[in-house]
Amino acid sequence: QATSISADRVPDMEKRKLMNLILLGAISLPSAGMLIPYTYFFVPPGSGGSGGGTNAKDALGNDVIAVEWLKTHGPGDRTLTQGLKGDPTYLVVEPDRTLATYGINAVCTHLGCVVPWNSAEKKFICPCHGSQYNTQGKVVRGPAPLSLALAHADIDDGKVVFVPWVETDFRTGEDPWWS
Ligand code: FES
Repeated sequence: QATSISADRVPDMEKRKLMNLILLGAISLPSAGMLIPYTYFFVPPGSGGSGGGTNAKDALGNDVIAVEWLKTHGPGDRTLTQGLKGDPTYLVVEPDRTLATYGINAVCTHLGCVVPWNSAEKKFICPCHGSQYNTQGKVVRGPAPLSLALAHADIDDGKVVFVPWVETDFRTGEDPWWS
């Protein structure tokens, strides 16, 4: 009778479905496992986690914690940290005691000396050939041909993270020469 046939066949069908599931699992498990190294490859641990960002490091090589930094660096302060690609980069404290959303790359655009901040003159003055840059790193005296490069200074999980600046240079209204 028809009923006994279908009753026999139903368990078979279930078994086949189960076998298919096991087979699928056997095929897809290794590929899921292979995804993990790829994920780590593209998002290296310790990169700051925000797409191309780098944690700012202080002189001792420790990550810069924004609130801690602001306890010891007052308004107008410009202090070097380690930035993108290891470049010396100034963190800027605004008059209202917040961190500026940009960092200033300290590498002189003339021949690459690290440019110190002169707090009395309120300028960056290069010791090598006398180039000068204003408080935001815009060139105001040559021979340097260009302003100091910028980086975004974001705060991620309390830490300062530098992210490449690819947008218009707000000091000149021009495309960034460094990216
Ligand atoms: Fe700075 Fe020449 S390297 S002025």
